[in-house]
Amino acid sequence: MFSYRHAFHAGNHADVLKHFITIQLLQYLNQKDTAYTYIDTHSGAGVYALDGTFASKNAEYDTGIGPLWERDDMPPQLKEYVDLIRAMNPSGKMRYYPGSPYIAEQVAREQDRLRLFELHPADAKLLADNFRKLEEHAAEQGIRPTVRGKRVMVTRSDGFQSLKALLPPPSRRALVLIDPPYEDKQDYKKVKDALAEALTRFPSGTYAVWYPLLQRMESRQFADKLKQLQCSEWLNVVLTTREPTPDGFGLHSSGMFILNPPYTLEPMLKQVMPYLVKALGVDSGARFTLESGTPTPVRGNGGTASPRNAAGQAPRSAGTAGPRSAAAQGPRAPAGQGPRGAGVRAGAGDTRPGAGREGLAAKARRPTPVAPRSEGATAGRTTGPRRPVNRQK
Ligand SMILES: C[S@@+](CC[C@H](N)C(=O)[O-])C[C@H]1O[C@@H](n2cnc3c(N)ncnc32)[C@H](O)[C@@H]1O
Repeated sequence: MFSYRHAFHAGNHADVLKHFITIQLLQYLNQKDTAYTYIDTHSGAGVYALDGTFASKNAEYDTGIGPLWERDDMPPQLKEYVDLIRAMNPSGKMRYYPGSPYIAEQVAREQDRLRLFELHPADAKLLADNFRKLEEHAAEQGIRPTVRGKRVMVTRSDGFQSLKALLPPPSRRALVLIDPPYEDKQDYKKVKDALAEALTRFPSGTYAVWYPLLQRMESRQFADKLKQLQCSEWLNVVLTTREPTPDGFGLHSSGMFILNPPYTLEPMLKQVMPYLVKALGVDSGARFTLESGTPTPVRGNGGTASPRNAAGQAPRSAGTAGPRSAAAQGPRAPAGQGPRGAGVRAGAGDTRPGAGREGLAAKARRPTPVAPRSEGATAGRTTGPRRPVNRQK
């Protein structure tokens, strides 16, 4: 049950996609003063030491943050993400990589709330230790001395279960990140069920789900199942960095599925994804897909999944495929393959482990108070013509 450790995968191409988009979603929420809640149902350890034995075992960061580290030609939204990581590594050497909780901590503002869940005993402890150190550091610096204790709550518990009790959040504004290991195929169903219930409790929330593209049926059908959920709109973006290997070894492709995305997200991704494909593409299989739409009817249900959307329209722009040619950069040394064949980010049984008012860049310049211990952790907006879909206040 506790075989997955994210430290083995820290900074890989899937983390790049997930974390860069998470920053953009938080930045969107930062545009209004009203506080929001960031809920991370599967938090991991919070910070990872890239030179630790877990992360360096397969050096998966060579498929993700590695190729971006020295680039100076990035689109501004991607640069924001890389700059946040550069700020954690003031020596200039890429040693530490942030998990989603640390990223949210950096981008969210004083008034916002972070609710972080992690089930693995070791990673839950690392996560709690990391945030304790962040708090101590903030207190030393005179930053958020009083509210900080309530600002972040780290809980060792099942994120799927814990989510329910937090919805709807007091301010009716929230971003929920759901990022399970998917080692257990039940995770696919659990994500969908958790989202269906969450949308009933809090229909206007923004929900972001990371998922791997694998051979297993649950993975291949996953996005289509999420498209049936009764949100206002959904967006699905998939980054593929290479052709699948014949033995299915390693993760070649992953997606972010966002329910109730901000209207700014799709135009921004249209600009940034071609760059990511070029920067991270390994062979001619590298590409992206970007699609968005409104909930699709559930087959056999004679109509829509729920009466909330009787229209049940089909996707608006299904399959906006990124230019395959953009990826033809020539193969780079393939690195960071999963430790076993299953084609995964999470090989079964393997032990792999905003800018608020202050502005993200300024915030990110703060020293990283997180001392990586052992493996885990202590270790443009574009404006589109469409109306805002995100109805969060
Ligand atoms: C992919 S990692 C999370 C990475 C993190 N979101 C990030 O981006 O840095 C998945 C984490 O979920 C944890 N986990 C697995 N099942 C869980 C559950 N039911 N509830 C909470 N955490 C769980 C695992 O221990 C693992 O640390």
